[in-house]
Amino acid sequence: MTDEAIGARIEELRAQVRYHDERYHGEDAPEIPDADYDRLVRSLRELEAAHPELAVDDSPLADVGAAPSSTFAPVTHVLPMMSLDNAFDRSELEAWALRVVGGLDLAPEVPEPAEIEELARATDGDEPVEVPGIDIGAIDVGYTCELKIDGVACSLRYEDGRLVQAATRGNGRVGEDITANVRGIDVIPDELTGAAPAVVEVRGEIYLPVSTFEALNEAQEAAGLARYANPRNTAAGSLRQKDPAITASRGLAFWSYQLGVVDGGPALEGHADALDWIASLGLPVNTERRRVGTLEEVVAFANHWLEHRHDLDYEIDGAVIKVDRLARQEALGATAKAPRWAMAYKFPPEERTTKLLEIQVSIGRTGKATPFAVLEPVFVGGSTVQVATLHNDDQVQLKDVRPGDTVIVRKAGDVIPEVLGPVLSERPKRLRRWKFPERCPTCDHTLVRPEGEAHIFCVNPVCPAQRQGRIEHFASRGAMDIEGMGESRVALFIEHGFIDDAGDIYDIPWDDVAELDGFGQTSIDNLKAAIDASKDRPLASLLVGLGIRHLGPAGAEDLSTAFGHIDAIMAATVEQMAAVDGVGPTIAASVHDYFATPEAAALVEKFRAAGVNLVGPEVSDVPKVLDGLTVVVTGTLGNYSRDGAADAIKSRGGKNPGSVSKKTTALVVGAEPGASKLTKAQDLGVPILDEAGFEELLATGRLPGAADDTDDTDDADDGSDGERDTAGPEAASEPAGDG
Ligand code: IVH
Repeated sequence: MTDEAIGARIEELRAQVRYHDERYHGEDAPEIPDADYDRLVRSLRELEAAHPELAVDDSPLADVGAAPSSTFAPVTHVLPMMSLDNAFDRSELEAWALRVVGGLDLAPEVPEPAEIEELARATDGDEPVEVPGIDIGAIDVGYTCELKIDGVACSLRYEDGRLVQAATRGNGRVGEDITANVRGIDVIPDELTGAAPAVVEVRGEIYLPVSTFEALNEAQEAAGLARYANPRNTAAGSLRQKDPAITASRGLAFWSYQLGVVDGGPALEGHADALDWIASLGLPVNTERRRVGTLEEVVAFANHWLEHRHDLDYEIDGAVIKVDRLARQEALGATAKAPRWAMAYKFPPEERTTKLLEIQVSIGRTGKATPFAVLEPVFVGGSTVQVATLHNDDQVQLKDVRPGDTVIVRKAGDVIPEVLGPVLSERPKRLRRWKFPERCPTCDHTLVRPEGEAHIFCVNPVCPAQRQGRIEHFASRGAMDIEGMGESRVALFIEHGFIDDAGDIYDIPWDDVAELDGFGQTSIDNLKAAIDASKDRPLASLLVGLGIRHLGPAGAEDLSTAFGHIDAIMAATVEQMAAVDGVGPTIAASVHDYFATPEAAALVEKFRAAGVNLVGPEVSDVPKVLDGLTVVVTGTLGNYSRDGAADAIKSRGGKNPGSVSKKTTALVVGAEPGASKLTKAQDLGVPILDEAGFEELLATGRLPGAADDTDDTDDADDGSDGERDTAGPEAASEPAGDG
């Protein structure tokens, strides 16, 4: 990727993370599963680490959760309220344990964290991570296992035994003052029992018991009101009430799981002791906690609760594992977002059965007809499910699910729910197989299944469902990201004839829009601003927005970088496009076919007229001379900051880990170097370079000493190198002498 493309990608990821933070923490209505969110955060973290020059103060990675709202007074946490990293399978949990064991020096020869990541990635999720000589499951680290309560994090501050403040986590640094509402939660004492210290801050999870949630929903239904989606969102909503009496009436509860600020408490050795102490003060601490030695025992604890989660009257979505000894926690420390001594081990997707009421078909932007199941509402994976995708006709026939069947539904967090299959033992007699409809449910055009295709399509080019889908896709987050241009507005604008295609978005008759119900000046201004902002999106976003078959974000980026302008892409032959790295003949042919249509040409002219960016990123020309090399830096350099040096290495294709190993190509030593790196490099015979040597390495990709050897063989073909060669032996003598 070019620098510009990387910059754009980082910005895009930051926007996505911010967006989902806001959905999750700000609105209590997450749109994507935790695993997907985690993946976004990981990609962003990796890119930010590799490109420190692109750092910004307001990266969402620095935040946990969303900024506090204005309804409640802000509370600055004395100690930040951190989040937890997630392990979604056994190999990720083991990778964490390996990092812990390495960090605490509990075993010899633990690989570097980056290497552990690689091993874990290469390991099948449910398999143990194999590291020769280390049985990670058997090492006695001392963990405390807890349940991961699915509720709302809250901090309670007691002074001289009295509750003085309750606050939400907010963005981790600043939360909301919810003291008045928390006083109405029965299980949270106003006054502590036992020997209360001068100050104790206890953190934990406020939750709504499942039985209370169900009773609440029954009351809602009886009153003809809408059901609440799930206990977590209902708990969050109940806490945000302006009237504390409403909060008090909801029956919220609390489990303590962590100490915050403490002044005057007893000396504690481990986290389990801390929990015991919290309980002795009269605060609720979940009894399903266990202090264990090894990871094997941790996994047994988690597996037990995976099986028994529904025996509990509260929702849990995993186990939380903490290194028990407080001294060890301190030694391990924390990243910007989460402690290194704790890990959330998340449960896999959940399954439930329910009645399949009917199968309907929806038409997407490409005309693809997707069957979906309409279900009797069922609570699974944290929320109530009423529809689930069935993918395509083959899947329906393969699963042989029939309207009237009892079916198994699977859902994790907030992913799109899936129907796994029928429960045949419960199938009513004479239930008929489902048949795919012959006509488009929207335009009544005949549906066709092209040769060799898994999907059935509505091929009517003017099918309103497709047009709607195309415009929605263009404005969506993965494409031009026009906030406020969602499903309902697109439908409304199409209905009123304001837009026929994506190009019309830039030529909306705003005076007419102002006449519509629900469009005040502010919403018009906001939408206009969002549309304007989209004009500067990278060319790749525009290409994605066009919805060309087979062309995903990566291919779009490759094309926009290789050709530099949409006109060049439109003029390119299939062969020219297929020659681009990452673009195969299928994508090339599809893009070519797309741009050959008069509709595409007309659309591009609309974009051009509106001033939408049609230019690709500039190509970086730093040669990748350090490809495959690993360069470690220690101490202060004159011409490079620590991040600048890392960037110089990485932009040339090199690796820049934080420690020296056998694989290190060279250690660059500045003023006041770290003693351990230097000693290790000397022990391992890793070449040591000063800043001049480093600069030479950056310029040539060769170690100063090695320059001679290589040049001996090829000095005939490049006389201009001679000047640099003469400096070589001098620089080289130093590391050799040091080693
Ligand atoms: S410990 C520094 N323990 O999960 C460690 N958190 O995904 C702070 N949670 O923010 C958290 N059960 O709201 C901890 N037993 C437990 C928990 C727990 C639920 C929540 C908590 C945290 C979130 C992270």
